[in-house]
Parts: sequence; C-alpha cells; structure tokens
Amino acid sequence: MEVIVEQTVEAMSRAAALEVAEILNAKPNAVLGMATGTTPLGLYKELAQMCRRGEVDFSHVTTFNLDEYVGLPVTHPQSFHYFMHENFFKHVNIPLENIHIPSGTASNYRAFCDWYENRIKECGGIDLQILGIGSDGHIAFNEPGSSLSSRTRLKTLAKPTIDDNSRFFNNRDEVPIYAITMGVGTILEARKCLLLANGKNKADAVSAMVEGPVTSMITASALQLHEDTKVFLDESAAGKLKMRDYYTWIQNKKPGAPQR
Ligand code: PGA
Repeated sequence: MEVIVEQTVEAMSRAAALEVAEILNAKPNAVLGMATGTTPLGLYKELAQMCRRGEVDFSHVTTFNLDEYVGLPVTHPQSFHYFMHENFFKHVNIPLENIHIPSGTASNYRAFCDWYENRIKECGGIDLQILGIGSDGHIAFNEPGSSLSSRTRLKTLAKPTIDDNSRFFNNRDEVPIYAITMGVGTILEARKCLLLANGKNKADAVSAMVEGPVTSMITASALQLHEDTKVFLDESAAGKLKMRDYYTWIQNKKPGAPQR
C-alpha cells in the first residue's frame, strides 16, 4: 500500500483526481469502479471540472459501482443510482449505456449478482477501483466478518453502518438493512485501487487497514494483499498512523516530488 497524506480534503481530492486522469489519459476506454458516500464527492467534482476543461474524457469509459441499497427505487434520493447521476455522471461525458450500478430492485438477486460479476469480466475487468472506508473498516458494503474471497452478493448491513447512514434519512427505521455489494474478492481483482478517507472518525479504521493484521473484521485490510493500492488521506484520517513519518518520507523521496 502506498499512503499519501494531504493537508486538506480538497488537496486529497485533487491528488486522487490527477491519479484517475492519468489512467484515463493512458487508457481512454478504461473500466472504472465507482464508490458512493461523502468521501469521493470532492474527487468527482474535480473530475467533472477537468472534463469541462477538456483535461479528461469519459466518452469511452465504462463504470461499475460497488454497491446499492436493496429496496430503494433508482429515483429515491438516497439510492446510489440517484447519487451517482446527481454527483457525477450528469457532469461528465460518459454514455449512459456504459454505466453499471447494482440493482436494488432485482426480482432474483442471485442471478443479478452473477450477471454483474460476468459483465465486469466481459468488459475486461476493472482497471481502477475507487474506494472509501466505513468507520467499521468496511470496503463497499463488506461488513466485518465478510469473507476476503467474497463476490457480488446480497449483504445484511451492520448496525454501525446503519447508524452512519441514518444521517441521510428522515429516521433510522428508513435506512435499508440489505445491500447488493461487490465482494472483497471482486475488489481485489481490480488492477489498481485508490482508497480515500478523510476526517478523524476514519482514523481508527485507517490505522487498522494500513497497519493492523489482514482480517475479515476490517475488510479494507485485505488491500494489504493487493499489489497496487494507493491510500489518499487528509491529516485527520492519518492521525493514528504509527508510521506516518515514514509514509511522508517515501513520498518526499520520489523523483521530482514536492516537499511536504
Ligand atoms: P462515507 O462512507 O464516504 O460517507 O464516509 C464511506 C463508506 O462507508 O464506505
């Protein structure tokens, strides 16, 4: 894992956007794995601005989202379909037919999940997976205890996740308790992963992911087994990393690196 600590959320988002742009400029038909949540909003805003300025082009890009709540129609303001269109897709030049988001309203979830996995393969696999991390250390909706080999499936959400997400709903009872999520095994097959985290409520999860043991209790720790993962943090999310100085030293020693 490569750990990059930026002073602010804005700087973190900008650094991650440059990374995405670099990949798209090298491979215009790249397959991107997308994440929802508060964390990637700055990154999506940066990418939309870069797209408007002609610095990045999404016209040949294919996307696969990590997850979706079960039971919310795509028009529900808290569905991840709605989130992605509002916060990203409608601001870039991606063809609608290139967008894949798990269905939260399928009649046969098992068949849908198999189709989703196959569709990723048909499109050549994910070149770059964007990720956030939950305060319980989850990636996508792979809650503690999820198999590190898990595939796309229906998952029951953990109470801390329901609590974290209840801020977006009128009350806690409205928060869905099931989701369709890519598995940890699905995510580990992406050629490159970019995980973003900001804020001090993520500091414990980040330190467990980066410096703790690989364990299904912190599914993000499985990224220690991935050969090309970059972790972009702001100062607060990096606050509990024991090797923090070393990560900065590594960044400073890269050829042409700006001094931090
Ligand atoms: P957040 O969610 O970006 O809203 O904090 C991250 C996650 O749960 O994966």
